[in-house]
Amino acid sequence: MGVLLEVQDVTKTFGSLVALDRVSLSVEERKLTILIGPNGSGKTTLINVVSGFYKADKGKILYQGEDITGLPPHRVYRKGIARTFQIPALFWKLTVLENLVAAEKNHPGESFVRSVFKSAWEGAETQATEKALRILELLGLAGAWNSEASKLSGGQMKLVEIGRALMSDARILLLDEPVSGVNPTLAHEIFTKLVRLRDELGVTFLIVEHRLDIALDYVDYVQAMAYGRMISGGDPKVVMKDPKVIDAYLGG
Ligand SMILES: Nc1ncnc2c1ncn2[C@@H]1O[C@H](COP(=O)(O)OP(=O)(O)OP(=O)(O)O)[C@@H](O)[C@H]1O
Ligand SMILES: [Mg+2]
Repeated sequence: MGVLLEVQDVTKTFGSLVALDRVSLSVEERKLTILIGPNGSGKTTLINVVSGFYKADKGKILYQGEDITGLPPHRVYRKGIARTFQIPALFWKLTVLENLVAAEKNHPGESFVRSVFKSAWEGAETQATEKALRILELLGLAGAWNSEASKLSGGQMKLVEIGRALMSDARILLLDEPVSGVNPTLAHEIFTKLVRLRDELGVTFLIVEHRLDIALDYVDYVQAMAYGRMISGGDPKVVMKDPKVIDAYLGG
């Protein structure tokens, strides 16, 4: 086991605002790492830079040792890095199953030329459907496969987003607040499922989350940010006692 994703000295500014100030971070393979920090500390910006949605002004992103700095989002995605959004971005009129199938990385529907060969397309569609059903089973969502996305509970929407990310065969998932607004029981269930995905499929997680009361029971590592800087990182028990972390939350 080693480092799967490495952020090296990344800076990102918006005008005069320094959202990320020389941020470095190593994400270990097959571990759950949580990224914490007060509102506006730069957590989502970091996810946006790693996933290619924003370009870093300075610094490097390495994935499996390969420099992926500046790649556009679809190329980052194809490398095996998938993300979810702070506010779920689903196809609201489609069913749960359709949402997953539409997220398949090699879905031939993306390619006009291949979609002309209807039989090939149908074969791939069946495969994608089978895969989607397996993922829904893993997430405990199989019973809702035919529900329209807009009719789901907040917690189920979060799970569908995770399911969509898994359809790409991602090796690492970047989750932006997977349990925000979700009731405690379901929030614990979601984290239990993430642990299962780590253990059974070997998925690596970098998770932004404010709900520390829930998340800390499940994570391997904590990274803490404040004012665009990485201020602490490592074992959850150690990081949560770090005076810099306590200050960041209490000092405001
Ligand atoms: N696209 C943008 N344009 C201008 N400023 C931005 C943009 N995205 C983020 N920012 C600013 O960068 C800073 C970091 O924002 P970011 O969303 O990364 O924080 P966060 O840690 O995710 O906060 P929260 O916990 O509230 O989600 C904030 O001051 C925010 O206003
Ligand atoms: Mg955020």
